[in-house]
Amino acid sequence: MRRVLILGSTGSIGKNALRVIELFKEEFKVVGLVAGRNKEELLKQAVKFKPEAVALFEGEFPKELPFKTYVGLEGIENLIKELDFDLCLAAISGSSGILPTYWASKKAERLALANKEALVCAGKFIKETAREIIPVDSEHSAIFQALKGGEREEVKRIILTASGGPFWNRENLEEVKPEEALKHPNWKMGKKITVDSATLMNKGLEVIEAYWLFEVPPEKIEVVIHPQSIVHSLVEFQDGSLISQMGVADMKIPIAYALSYPKRLPLTAREENLSLSLFGLKLEFYEPDLEKFPCLKLAYKALKEGSYYPTVLNGADEVAVELFLKGQIKFTDIPKLIEETLNLSDFKEPKEIEEVIEIDRKAKEKALEIAKRWS
Ligand SMILES: NC(=O)c1ccc[n+]([C@@H]2O[C@H](COP(=O)([O-])OP(=O)(O)OC[C@H]3O[C@@H](n4cnc5c(N)ncnc54)[C@H](OP(=O)(O)O)[C@@H]3O)[C@@H](O)[C@H]2O)c1
Repeated sequence: MRRVLILGSTGSIGKNALRVIELFKEEFKVVGLVAGRNKEELLKQAVKFKPEAVALFEGEFPKELPFKTYVGLEGIENLIKELDFDLCLAAISGSSGILPTYWASKKAERLALANKEALVCAGKFIKETAREIIPVDSEHSAIFQALKGGEREEVKRIILTASGGPFWNRENLEEVKPEEALKHPNWKMGKKITVDSATLMNKGLEVIEAYWLFEVPPEKIEVVIHPQSIVHSLVEFQDGSLISQMGVADMKIPIAYALSYPKRLPLTAREENLSLSLFGLKLEFYEPDLEKFPCLKLAYKALKEGSYYPTVLNGADEVAVELFLKGQIKFTDIPKLIEETLNLSDFKEPKEIEEVIEIDRKAKEKALEIAKRWS
């Protein structure tokens, strides 16, 4: 039985993971749960899954609980140090997940990775420490599976599919409202990633994530818009064969795969509606419009520049999304704010993970400063 620690258990991925674990109690034991601020949900989960330890980034626990409790970033670090676990599902959102994911990567036999921002900003460090990383992101899970269809040197290109979010075929994006950006056509996800899907920054971050996971050069990583979200990504081999993984748009599938790989769990037998019906299936693919969605272009640029650029890109995006959701900047200002922050940033290449955290902090400060100047 695998002993599992979940970072970000109260979020969309965390809850889906707990559902998978509930369905396969004979395979997994939840030993640790870590969340941000949602104490009520965390305690509800703890009552149900009976972990050995839980942590909150912010908040206070009642006294005399039947498990160890930890609070704050230091608390999360101590939980990771003290808890005995085999597998960590890293699903904290945003750059807050970098350090916890990195600490867990030093200890876990397997890192089931959802927190793409950790790889985007600190890929070099996490790759050095992690023993095994299995992607949770549906696109990367698809690529991971498709790569088994040939040798690494036979790969011609990796093709990440993007749903395109709610606006890929809408003309004017100037007046997009937060509630419109939060309505994803195919996936139910946290707020940040949902807005990132609408700007295509999520795909940009995924391009960088794919670079670290699969060690392919940026020019071999392509993006296509696939509004149906059925083909989760593809690998083209040098003989012209395209290998893809398809399935319904439900994160339980890639989560279950990351938890149980190389075994495939009988998920469709225990959870309804996860089996894809093929009749009448429509699969469309379009080229992304980089002028309309500059975030994707910015992400490629940051990846090619390397060094501190992806961290600044990600930090500025986090600030931009937050300001957009608060109604303080327009949807179309998101890429402008990221680009200006990238242009005005000048750091040394980070030599250790603490320097990545410092760059993230400074980039966010800079982005806020720029946005203030605009208003
Ligand atoms: N959702 C998806 O379908 C999906 C698909 C692919 C990849 N991902 C990636 O998975 C990650 C999580 O996404 P999500 O959609 O699940 O996000 P979400 O619903 O917003 O959940 C975020 C989780 O992180 C926790 N958290 C936030 N700040 C924290 C902090 N400082 N310390 C500890 N925990 C903290 C939250 O806790 P509280 O709620 O308690 O504050 C919550 O448990 C992201 O990196 C995203 O890009 C998500």
